[in-house]
Amino acid sequence: MAERSSFVVVANRLPVDEVTTPDGERQWRTSPGGLVTALHPVLTEHGGTWIGWAGGTGEAPEPFDLEGIHIHPVPLSADELERYYEGQSNATIWPLYHDAVETPVYKRRWREAYRSVNQRFAQAAAEVAADGATVWVQDYQLQLVPAMLRELRPDLKIGFFLHIPFPPIELFMQMPFRAEVLRGLLGADLVGFQQRLAAQNFVRLARHLLGLRYEGQSIQVDGRKVKAGAFPISIDTREMERLAADPKVQARAKEIRAELGDPKTIILGVDRLDYTKGIELRLKAFRELLADGKLKVGDAVMVQVATPSRERVEHYQSLRVKVEREVGRINGEFGRVGVPAVHYLHQSYSKQELAALYVAADVMMVTPLRDGMNLVAKEYVACRADTGGALVLSEFAGAATEMRQSFLCNPHDPDGVKDALMRAVAAEPAELKRRMRVMQRHLRTHDVAQWAQTFLEALEVAAEGRAPESAEAQST
Ligand code: ADP
Ligand code: F6P
Repeated sequence: MAERSSFVVVANRLPVDEVTTPDGERQWRTSPGGLVTALHPVLTEHGGTWIGWAGGTGEAPEPFDLEGIHIHPVPLSADELERYYEGQSNATIWPLYHDAVETPVYKRRWREAYRSVNQRFAQAAAEVAADGATVWVQDYQLQLVPAMLRELRPDLKIGFFLHIPFPPIELFMQMPFRAEVLRGLLGADLVGFQQRLAAQNFVRLARHLLGLRYEGQSIQVDGRKVKAGAFPISIDTREMERLAADPKVQARAKEIRAELGDPKTIILGVDRLDYTKGIELRLKAFRELLADGKLKVGDAVMVQVATPSRERVEHYQSLRVKVEREVGRINGEFGRVGVPAVHYLHQSYSKQELAALYVAADVMMVTPLRDGMNLVAKEYVACRADTGGALVLSEFAGAATEMRQSFLCNPHDPDGVKDALMRAVAAEPAELKRRMRVMQRHLRTHDVAQWAQTFLEALEVAAEGRAPESAEAQST
């Protein structure tokens, strides 16, 4: 039997991509991402294992080692991909947890697949975890894993972190297998959320749905204590700053500005093409400002990067049609030959290209209707070492709790969005500098490594049954 790990991460996706080298050889490499960067030191120090899906369907690759991490792929069949990932995870739970901004779809066979795939992940974790190991389960796709794993391995310290919002009781109560999901989460010693309000929703739900007693953020379950707390995730701030300062990225940013016709104002949006992100309302606000004559094509240009995402899910297909129709409408009404009003890019980019876009943009629009955190907002701020640039940010993004010096807006109020955008466009450089500096200072001390460390320390304490001191400051 292979050596077992004292630290295990369980997430829907593995942090790896399969690439073809110039000699045509297939090779795995770690995918760039905040989570893997933050956990890399802990994983390598403890001979850690990452359990997850490698993408694709059918048989999974054999476990392998990459950059000091044991990679343990979990297979998904084509049916499971449709029912567990596209169905239960992304057409039921995702919309429900995001304030039901799209109507959640409930299907029995999706729940069954979710259950059996969660069991597979729990089984894999039970097999690779050493005695008394720490297992950190990530996100909404795997909410049943903590209880399943506790059943198999009561000796483990189990943490769970939800990257997306946790809904208020009345929304959660819609879900047909609500008690099972809640019991699944309660299998953990520590359940972490992005926001204090989400942790509050969770402890209150435990009382409402299962009649459990709680005190502060500690719930009594079967003679155990389960802690809840807020641990707002962040980015690799130094890496983002370094990237933005790279002369190649700076040169590329200048080139982008030139390619866009050196306009006075570049307005940028970077999002997965997801209906929670408020892409349509942002486009509409821009169109109305052009129609009102407050912005002029040529002076102002909008660049919208809309990363392809979950393309076989119906909600996402209809969103794409709506967004592309709106882009066509704006360019049709306001564009000129060679001078479109909106540049729409339905593509993935390298971190370098994204950093160059951030450096080039005068105003970054982050206007989700609901978002657990929104790392794009933080990445933009970290890239503006020149202390230029303005962030327009929805109050409904988790990031709004920390990025208080942004131009905050209510995305449900079109006039409020237009007003925030115009204030950002018109702001004096000195004011922009002041705002950026405060937010950048915050991100330097609250980066993703600090997030992981705070969570893992709190988990250690929670598993010992004591009150987690480090989570106290942000307790519910
Ligand atoms: P979500 O997790 O919902 O997609 P976040 O804003 O929290 O939203 O995180 C998105 C991440 O994906 C960021 O790190 C961002 O840099 C990255 N990203 C977004 N769009 C692209 C793209 N077109 N190409 C590559 N990376 C992207
Ligand atoms: O923000 C939630 C999240 O699941 C992230 O963890 C992930 O990077 C992103 O959405 C993309 O989701 P998917 O894995 O479905 O492509």
